[in-house]
Amino acid sequence: MASRVIPVEDFDLVIFGGTGDLARRKILPGLYRRFCSGQMPETARIIGAARSEHDTAEFRQIVRDAIREFSKKNACDDALIGTFLEQLHYVQVDAKGEDGWDDLRDLMRKDVVKAYYFSVAPSLFGDLAERLQAHGIADEDARIVVEKPFGRDLASAKKLNQDLAKHFDETQIYRIDHYLGKETVQNLMAVRFGNILFEPLWNSQYVDHIQITVAETVGVGGRGEYYDKSGAMRDMVQNHLMQLLCLIAMEPPSRFNPDAVRDEKLKVIRALEPIDHHHIVRGQYDATETEPSYREDAGDPRSRTESFIALRCMISNWRWAGTPFYLRTGKKLKARASEIAVVFKDAPHSIFGEEAGRHANVLSIRLQPNEGMTLKVTIKEPGPGGMRLIDVPLDMSFADALGEEADDIPDAYERLIMDVIRGNQTLFMRGDEVQAAWAWTDPLIESWEARSDVPKHYDAYSSGPEDAAMMLHREGRRWREIKE
Ligand code: BG6
Repeated sequence: MASRVIPVEDFDLVIFGGTGDLARRKILPGLYRRFCSGQMPETARIIGAARSEHDTAEFRQIVRDAIREFSKKNACDDALIGTFLEQLHYVQVDAKGEDGWDDLRDLMRKDVVKAYYFSVAPSLFGDLAERLQAHGIADEDARIVVEKPFGRDLASAKKLNQDLAKHFDETQIYRIDHYLGKETVQNLMAVRFGNILFEPLWNSQYVDHIQITVAETVGVGGRGEYYDKSGAMRDMVQNHLMQLLCLIAMEPPSRFNPDAVRDEKLKVIRALEPIDHHHIVRGQYDATETEPSYREDAGDPRSRTESFIALRCMISNWRWAGTPFYLRTGKKLKARASEIAVVFKDAPHSIFGEEAGRHANVLSIRLQPNEGMTLKVTIKEPGPGGMRLIDVPLDMSFADALGEEADDIPDAYERLIMDVIRGNQTLFMRGDEVQAAWAWTDPLIESWEARSDVPKHYDAYSSGPEDAAMMLHREGRRWREIKE
């Protein structure tokens, strides 16, 4: 089954910060893959714009090296890379000054889609937006793409929104949360709203609780200084886990269109209850014999920033009142594994008696790696000896079910950049959504800062601090095992 690739319209995409880490790791290799798939028109142009002194030939060489290092597929086809590179250009531009803007303007074509990717520090967003308008290179249809972190609290997010809104309409602003570009994350919507099977059970009457886990094995070494100012709450929960929570909890939108979906997500965020400190566990990983502790990685022996967090969230609405959503994420955990598990309630009455035990159905959606879905169902244990029940998985790995097509799935950045060119904002965060997420997050952070809360220790490559297990244990529940 070959996937259908529909080429996008002709475009000029300018990447500010075009030689930076994100551009080299994700954006440019992603564009190269879209080029290989035939989705990027041969006339489309990618313009690297940065402060550093390079010419187009040097930029092309940087991109060639980046593709070789970071591209998963087709990376070594020199001829293809060569043809792709011909579509690349470079201009030296000063985001805060006037240098280079005339050159950029001269390079931009009329009558094609224009997209400007701000792969730079958020402090430059306002300057770039202003200069794009001042130099007349952003028409009404131009799009700007901005990355997280979109602020570090409500006040700074509001300020960024205001700075952008002075020069661009909300319909032109694409705020990236790369989790929304992941294939399985979008599949959450397909599973919920494409099947009649689950939706009638998707509420507090039938769901005991939901667990959302995003576990990573990497530590923060290398970016410790940056991370220490952020922590797991700002780095992962306020954005990625919040988006997963929204997609799992939201009401069915009337259409799969940007505002219908984003309106429903916003309602979930606004219905989140404040959390008291008994339902938040923060942690920091310890050193191993060969690897530093979180505090060593952060370069601050007294750091109170969390590399792990677990929370119990409650949503005050008719569908979910009384059903806890347990969220956890952390660095240096025992496996890289992200999953959402919907744990259903026990059957109301067991006709098989006490000895048959309790058997709850669990729908688990594995986001990465080994994307797929498992539904735990209860059956009779085979053989004589009465009615003994066991749980077995109805297991579907997307790789098995979809064959080669699963290998061809574009990664998050590829898909999101193509959506920018297509002008589809469904998988991007709206300004009010980001602000609502911060409005919920801020008091939680303020409260642990006011209490001078010190994160708990946890062993590197474990499941996180013991207190996180206790938090669920107190409520008669258990975390699912973190495994690949
Ligand atoms: C980023 C965070 O947004 O997401 C990182 O800043 C994290 O700390 C990364 O490692 C995880 O993304 P993924 O796609 O590897 O799950």
